[in-house]
Formats: sequence, structure tokens, C-alpha cells
Amino acid sequence: MPDTLQVLIADPIHEDGRKLLATYPDIHVDIATGLDEEGLILKIPTYDALIVRSKSRVTRSVIEAGRALKAIGRAGIGVDNIDISAATEHGIVVFNTPDANATTTAELTVAHMMSLSRHLPQADRSVRSNEWQPTRFVGTELAGKTVGIIGFGTIGRLVAERCAALKMKVLAYDPYVTPEIMCQYSAAQRNLDSLLASSDYVTLHCPLTDKTHNLIDATRLSAMKSGARLINCARGGLVDEKALLDALRTGHIAGAALDVFAKEPPLGSEFIACDNVVLTPHLGASTKEAQQAVSVQIAEDVAKFLTTGEAESA
Ligand code: MLT
Repeated sequence: MPDTLQVLIADPIHEDGRKLLATYPDIHVDIATGLDEEGLILKIPTYDALIVRSKSRVTRSVIEAGRALKAIGRAGIGVDNIDISAATEHGIVVFNTPDANATTTAELTVAHMMSLSRHLPQADRSVRSNEWQPTRFVGTELAGKTVGIIGFGTIGRLVAERCAALKMKVLAYDPYVTPEIMCQYSAAQRNLDSLLASSDYVTLHCPLTDKTHNLIDATRLSAMKSGARLINCARGGLVDEKALLDALRTGHIAGAALDVFAKEPPLGSEFIACDNVVLTPHLGASTKEAQQAVSVQIAEDVAKFLTTGEAESA
């Protein structure tokens, strides 16, 4: 089938995306999940497009081995598992799905804020241990508190709208977004230092890049309000985990909710023994709706690009 366009799906995606690709007579799809870098390098040479989620690492070596590669589709938002510079150098278009799982991630963020405020995971563990200690789990209301949103893209904006509806005061920091846009989403612009000093809750919604690596380090943690809480549903590398552990142990940071870690899974992490953290296994995109939406969106984008050369959302 020399004229057939070959697509490799290297991470599990919802069946609706696979079904959509199957409707294209000129496209043939193979599925090979769980490949490490070596495995991808061996597999990739004949494929016109590669579709991944966050597990596969699409390194420069993988991209250079992809001699026929024209497009890489990331079913999700973060593209930190793809070497974008290498893809650009080789004229390969990289698609992601910036909107498809944004609501799901924003809702998880709010769920984490509520869990932190009302000690829900700890209270659940306590009842399961046959305890009944309502006074141990006295929480705090979100209404009237200040949330600081770092990164004001699609997810940050959805979080802002939800926090405003919960009657919170919303601050935002994003060097690429104007105060007018922030205002449209009920948020007031702040610089990073001012946001950290004023927020009862700080939530991260920026991409992981060389510039944002360890953005929340020991200095910035100490600049946060005493008793503030931190939520990270974005990327593990944004927070210096050792510094956060220290701040949680002293109580300067009252609690943290972490959906993402520098190394995933965080096997043996000291967070596991820390009672004032809530840990979830990178659930940011894990709803039925989001999984279906990212799969269909990426299938549409990749198929359209391969068959027509059009790349609307790349
Ligand atoms: C994303 O970047 O879309 C979310 O973190 C979920 C994922 O990694 O798939």
C-alpha cells in the first residue's frame, strides 16, 4: 500500500478517535503502545504521523528516525514530552488539543481546592479506620478567600470563572495576557510576587519550559502567605518538590494538592508520608468527556493535515 498514509498511535486513546481515523480510506492506523525511546526509534521510520498522549517521549532521536514523519499529534494539552525544536527543524507539524480537556482540568483544580480546604481525603481515611473525629477536620471556606492563578490560558481562565462563582477574589499572573482579558474572567492582574504574597490558594496553569522549571522554589514558597495552600494540576517540574516538602513540614504552607510530579509515578516520594498533601495520579484529563474529546480532536487534526495539508489548530 505505497500510497496509504501510515499513522502510528503510540499511547492509548479513546476509541472514537480511532474510529474517526478508520473512516479515511487513505489512512492506515497501527497501534503500538508502551514503547520506550528505543522501541519508538525502531518503529517510527515508515510512519507519516505519530499520535501520543503524555507517556511516550518524542525525543529528537525519535523525530530524526521518523524519515516519513509529517505530523505529531498530542492528545492533550502539554507538549513537554515532544521535542518541539527538533520537530520544527524537520518541518514536522505538532498538534495538541488545548481546549478539549481544559474544563476537566479546571474542575479537578477546584475539586483539589475543596479537598484541601475540608480535609476530605484525610477524613475519609479516618472514617475507614473506624474513627469519628469531626473536630479534627474543621476546615476553611473558599468564599471570601483569594486565589492566585499562575498562567492564564484556557485552563487558568476556566478556573477563574469557577472561583469567582464560588465568591473568591481572583488574582492572575501571566506575562502574555493583558489585564483587560483577565478582567473579562473576573480576575485582577498581579505580578508574581504580589500574587504570592496575597493569595490563600495558589494554583498553577502554565506550561513547563526552561523558564518555568522550578518556578515555585524555596524563595517563592517563603514569599507565599503563611498558611496558604498550593495546587498543581499542570506539570511536576514547575515546583521544587524538596522545597515544598520543607514548607509543608514547617506548616508555612498549610497544604498542597499535587496531580503531577517531577517523576511520575512518584514512587518512594517523601510526599507519601506527608499528611497535609493530597496526591492524585495525573488525573488532569481523566474524564470520559475529555478522553473522548482529545481523541476525536487529535484524530481530526492529524487526518485533515495528512489528507489536505490544512493545519487549522497546529
Ligand atoms: C494535558 O497536558 O493534557 C494533561 O496534563 C493531561 C495529559 O497529560 O494527558
